[in-house]
Amino acid sequence: MPLSTNLATAPSRSHSDPAHDALRAYARDPFHGLFEGRTVEDLIAPGSLLDTPAAKRWYRDLFAGLPEELYTYQLPLDQASGPVSKALGEEITMFSSYSYLGLIGNPRINRAAQRAIDRYGTSTGGVRVLTGTLALHLEVERELARFLGQEAAAIFASGYDANVAAISSLFGKNDFALLDQYAHRSIHDGVAMAGCEIKRFKHNDLEDLERHLQLARERGYRRILIAVDSVFSMDGDQAPLADLIAIKKRYNAFLMVDEAHAIGAIGKTGRGVCEEQDIDPADIDIHTGSLSKGIPASGGFVAGSQALKVYIQHGSAPYMFSAAITPANAASILEALRILDEEPEHMDRLRENTRILKDGLERLGFDTGASTSPIVPLILGDEWRAYRWAKHLLLDHGIFTSAVTFPAVSPGQARLRLCATAAHRPEHFEKLFLALQACKEAEL
Ligand SMILES: Cc1ncc(COP(=O)(O)O)c(C=O)c1O
Repeated sequence: MPLSTNLATAPSRSHSDPAHDALRAYARDPFHGLFEGRTVEDLIAPGSLLDTPAAKRWYRDLFAGLPEELYTYQLPLDQASGPVSKALGEEITMFSSYSYLGLIGNPRINRAAQRAIDRYGTSTGGVRVLTGTLALHLEVERELARFLGQEAAAIFASGYDANVAAISSLFGKNDFALLDQYAHRSIHDGVAMAGCEIKRFKHNDLEDLERHLQLARERGYRRILIAVDSVFSMDGDQAPLADLIAIKKRYNAFLMVDEAHAIGAIGKTGRGVCEEQDIDPADIDIHTGSLSKGIPASGGFVAGSQALKVYIQHGSAPYMFSAAITPANAASILEALRILDEEPEHMDRLRENTRILKDGLERLGFDTGASTSPIVPLILGDEWRAYRWAKHLLLDHGIFTSAVTFPAVSPGQARLRLCATAAHRPEHFEKLFLALQACKEAEL
């Protein structure tokens, strides 16, 4: 696609635009005067509830960043999230949404959710194992298992819950967990809850993984879990599943693969990295994912054998002690799976837009890491630089991106995490590239 390199044409917003002022006021004072005229010590008195190193670190960062209008988080949207949305009355172009298929607000999905509310109401009134199971849940689970090529699937209120449920119900303190260092926080929390011995292997480094496996074997561990994301959420690169399967078989370990950013994002028909890398899903022992990204609902799943599903439904805390996924969410998931089957154009457009995003950033000379998915990081290094770029993009260009800093990524690896969706159009990319070029020229 044509990319103008004339910076003079880069649209910049006028400081007198009242809606723009609202975004600026938010970036300076998002907490309604909480920090006005106060110090960290005023807000966190010695011995008080918030007198902890973590709380004090957050508050110091907020005190340093707010006068510079650097707070671009939790921006309240006035309407549905899409490539163009509205926040505080101001139009914004969205480049940090996980709605890879661009299906938020899709009329078929909205109608399905409305029909489910008409039939079942807004809540299930209980946990799945007692009074919360609907016929609709069973239909979603059957469809999801078929979609994934697995024998069975159980759904949860979130992807976070699904990961915690699978790990904490299957592993315990005599077991050993080997996690990719960039595996999602929910996987780390699951093994911490299980009480396993935990080691992190270097990201996608099979030699390091084998070194740890040999140590685990020498130390006499019988049950070993290897857990990875299939698409890593901060880098957009993929796990080498064929190699991981060969290794787990050699060491008699179990493999868990989290497809949160792969379902509805990767693979010819959006079935994830198994489809993309031509892997037999039966070789994955625990197949998990989120239903709140490519699939525009809220929920998560654990898929695998029928026996695994039945156990997880009776032996995992998030299934037994947390309310069932709502009817509207369940219906949205079901309709999105149907759309993926019937309307291949969404995945086609996503692939094309992913290519446009990555090519455009590389043409501008940015470091985009090893991304092979719609998540394309723009690595900036210093965290304050990432905050400044996100601010400039939002307040001067109306472009909403996410500055991702420690602890979500390693220190010195701060970035803007940009995501392509099927709904972006050429003019959105053109606008982004011009604005990024302006950031670069301004040496922010
Ligand atoms: C890799 C990965 N797994 C799990 C989750 C949690 O999914 P959910 O947002 O549905 O709880 C996320 C969320 O971003 C994720 O990135």
